[in-house]
Amino acid sequence: MIRLFFLKLLILIPSIGIAQGLITNTINRNTTTLNGTWHYIIDPYETGYYNYRYEPYDEQVNNDNRAFYNNYHTDDKLELVEYDFDKSPTLLVPGDWNSQSESLLYYEGTIWYKKSFDYQISNPSNRLFLYFGAVNYKAEVYLNGHKLGTHIGGFTAFNYDISSIVKPKNNYLVVKVDNKRSKEAVPTINTDWWNYGGITRDVKLIEEPQSFIQDYSIQLKKGNNSIISGFVKLNNVSKKEKVTISIPELNINKTIEISTNNDIEFEVKAKNIQYWSPESPKLYAVYIKTDYQTLEDQIGFRTIEVKGPKILLNGNPVFLKGISIHEENPMRAARAFNEADALVLLNWAKELGCNYVRLAHYPHNEHMVRLADQLGMMVWEEIPVYWTIDFKNENTLNNAKNQLTEAITRDKNRACIIIWSMANETPPSDARNKFLIDLVNHTKTFDNNRLISAALETHNKDGVQIVDDKMGEYLDIVAFNQYIGWYGGSLENAPNAKWDIKYNKPVVISEFGGGALQGLHGTIAERWTEEYQEYLYQQNLKMIDKIPNISGMSPWILVDFKSPKRLLPIIQDGWNRKGLISNNGIKKKAFYTLQEYYNNKKYE
Ligand code: GCU
Repeated sequence: MIRLFFLKLLILIPSIGIAQGLITNTINRNTTTLNGTWHYIIDPYETGYYNYRYEPYDEQVNNDNRAFYNNYHTDDKLELVEYDFDKSPTLLVPGDWNSQSESLLYYEGTIWYKKSFDYQISNPSNRLFLYFGAVNYKAEVYLNGHKLGTHIGGFTAFNYDISSIVKPKNNYLVVKVDNKRSKEAVPTINTDWWNYGGITRDVKLIEEPQSFIQDYSIQLKKGNNSIISGFVKLNNVSKKEKVTISIPELNINKTIEISTNNDIEFEVKAKNIQYWSPESPKLYAVYIKTDYQTLEDQIGFRTIEVKGPKILLNGNPVFLKGISIHEENPMRAARAFNEADALVLLNWAKELGCNYVRLAHYPHNEHMVRLADQLGMMVWEEIPVYWTIDFKNENTLNNAKNQLTEAITRDKNRACIIIWSMANETPPSDARNKFLIDLVNHTKTFDNNRLISAALETHNKDGVQIVDDKMGEYLDIVAFNQYIGWYGGSLENAPNAKWDIKYNKPVVISEFGGGALQGLHGTIAERWTEEYQEYLYQQNLKMIDKIPNISGMSPWILVDFKSPKRLLPIIQDGWNRKGLISNNGIKKKAFYTLQEYYNNKKYE
């Protein structure tokens, strides 16, 4: 059985250590998309991954042909093979599986994806990388029978060097995707959003020269708005290389020498910068040139800082007129993933009068942040450290740190991002504080040029709303969620609510709101009517105006979104109805309440 022996030999080749540091700015690189139809196999018992003793095929010495990543075919009528990708159905990539098939709506488990592709590397010295925008939740990636690696985390990008494995014809790429929730995961087992599984963002091949620009940071130097600084990171440097950072509109041409794969820092004076802002979202063409390539990016320059109770954008106090957004196209009832989806969501926010959006509760796809850069929409970006995370678990902390690293690495050159958020509504405890403080410190090692916050909670004592979460000491902005009029408290008295916020820092209401079924009308005393939601907004806005140091808000939420926790028949039917817009794209009365408030908002 030569074939089987060969197969074993193939498997015996240890998966080459080919996981790579994240390649950034893929939108402007030499890429080939692998988006489209992929065959898939539903595998709830992970039959294609474990043998009957529950031992993983890809970690054993003697494998057989039931490991799905072999995509094994045989003409031997006797041989037992119990899967066949090419005879299996297909799913669209990118896209969650839940919205593509009725039978997958609630599916949580493993689905195997398979894509065949041809690729001729254009120059033998070039290298080829396989890039995933995101896979929710755990991805195990195999190419031509070799395991490339495992990625954990459903909302951040990753890539592998496949130069030594890819063939000109009939490459077979297999991805095992598992979206099962678990206590130690990030997010943990309980969330108020749909657990969309799948290869949910773009998949692309990236061809690069032998030595290439992997990553860079090009931003204003902290505390100095006339110096541009950062670093350039080359990959596979073999000799000293000259690298030039040029910004023609600013007459900048800065050349540095790089002889290692480390981050090499630079700084250069810059005059007459047109600073990025919501009113004037100026993006400069920035070119990074080496002997082998010229890479372009579009980068805005701005300062963001806090001073006492104020948030200063380019030195001027700013009020964050925001709204929270989930990464979902409501009309498709599916994960949003492309520029068209981003346009729908951010144009609604623009129409609402926003200059700011909270991208909840996880990093959104790159189309969202690139479009926010272009539209002049400031962004709060967050990792899914949400609710009852396993704060005492070291692996959970490392997972959260890795997701934070991947999010910051991808987006650190986007002027629109002004806040990195560490968490949402996590229950205070010593373990939780240690966990979040670790994340704060980790963030600062990567990016000391943005503000740090987290959505905290309030508590009520003797009729006073109190914010004294210890984490407030470590955050630049004290943000908290409050639901007066929905999860308790009197709407009628809301404008007279008393607040005691322990910190003299900018305050942002990261969530408030209430549910309404679009088209259901009644009195302000009837929950779920548009009138109730409208009154809730009216009363909350009157209250918020009186909160000391209030510097912004991101009410919950722009548009109704799917959640397995929202079960009220006829009203919810699996949708969280706190949207200002329905899942059919119809605006509710409260949309216009908030729009009027923002359009008339005066702030100095
Ligand atoms: C919480 C939570 C949201 C949730 C919302 C709600 O504040 O942060 O994720 O959807 O409340 O109850 O609708």
